[in-house]
Amino acid sequence: MSLAALDQNYVMHTYARRNLEFIKGQGAILTERSGREYIDFTSGIGVVSVGHGHPALSEAIATQASTLIHTSNLYLIEPQAQLARELVHLSGLDARCFFANSGAEANEGAIKIARRYGEEGGLPKRYKVITLAHSFHGRTITALKATGQTQMHNYFGPYPDGFVYAENIDAIEGLIDDHTVAVMVELVQGEGGVTPLDREAVQKLAAVLRRRDILLIVDEVQTGIYRTGELLASGLYGITPDIVTLAKGLAGGVPIGAILTTHKSILSPGDHGSTFGGNFLSSKAAMTVLAILKEYHESGALAEAITYFKDKSEAFARRFDTLFEGETGLGLMRALIARDETIQQAVIDAAHEAGLLILKSGRRRVRMLPPVTISRAEIDEGFKRLESACLSL
Ligand SMILES: Cc1ncc(COP(=O)(O)O)c(C=O)c1O
Repeated sequence: MSLAALDQNYVMHTYARRNLEFIKGQGAILTERSGREYIDFTSGIGVVSVGHGHPALSEAIATQASTLIHTSNLYLIEPQAQLARELVHLSGLDARCFFANSGAEANEGAIKIARRYGEEGGLPKRYKVITLAHSFHGRTITALKATGQTQMHNYFGPYPDGFVYAENIDAIEGLIDDHTVAVMVELVQGEGGVTPLDREAVQKLAAVLRRRDILLIVDEVQTGIYRTGELLASGLYGITPDIVTLAKGLAGGVPIGAILTTHKSILSPGDHGSTFGGNFLSSKAAMTVLAILKEYHESGALAEAITYFKDKSEAFARRFDTLFEGETGLGLMRALIARDETIQQAVIDAAHEAGLLILKSGRRRVRMLPPVTISRAEIDEGFKRLESACLSL
């Protein structure tokens, strides 16, 4: 049976998959079964932060796998404790960490922490979480309900109560009531259009929330781990969230999720847990990714790559202004704004034909999430292929 037939017959049909089978990768290049090479402007939807086949990461994973993969969170785990210290130090937050396995799970934990905080403050019990329209926070029942794309709530109910959606950041304050315990936002919405929130509006909101004792949860599942130029986009925005969630790029492709919270003693043994979260393998991978990216950031190479990519992307949108009305994004999280939905789909399909992997975001955006360590040559080649794709339309 062909791979496509196996997939069709035995795997649930939850993804609109392309019939492409990648068999190996190096940096931002993926090789398909046919031998054809593709430039990867998706990095596995923001996961392969240090590129495919990074030698130091492969070596660290192999060595850890042959030493110890998992014991459980009932015992001390050295790489987990070191990873927690590194995240706390690099983020500058006076925080502690909890480790999970995905972004949705990290957000679930963040919401539990917020609800616990609301229970500690006496009556009335505070439990409501305000999130933004078009946001995306994950696929578990609670993370889905936190997601402000209400068309995604058509099935699977009843959902947990207590989620309120603000049309935009300026509308949040007006939605606060006696039951509000937290606000959860992405500083740049990944699935919702790649538009960075306004820095001043975010700082103003953070000050209002602090004054009113409402927690600020920043979902950095997609923006975190140097994607926007700093470890956390919160750092770029100059805010100190109460809770930050991470996943995707943290361990370069090994599943991990993390919560950092400044409310260091909010949970007690038994309140929350995970079988796999932060085991030896994923923690060691994450430590290695952080070491690679920290060096890449400190050397100035990341800032250079961002400027180079951004300039290319902006120039591209200007050159193809019949297709795109502009360009948006932060750091290496960018999008070309297509003039309509048909153009968005046509550009993505033509890019695949031309050997470039690229993503959708929102209804009109063509999203680019390359590996954080993408080289100039790979950026050049990616835009060259995008150019031939757009010329073919
Ligand atoms: C901002 C944000 N939060 C949460 C998630 C969910 O992460 P996961 O798919 O690892 O559960 C995603 C995934 O795209 C995301 O972009």
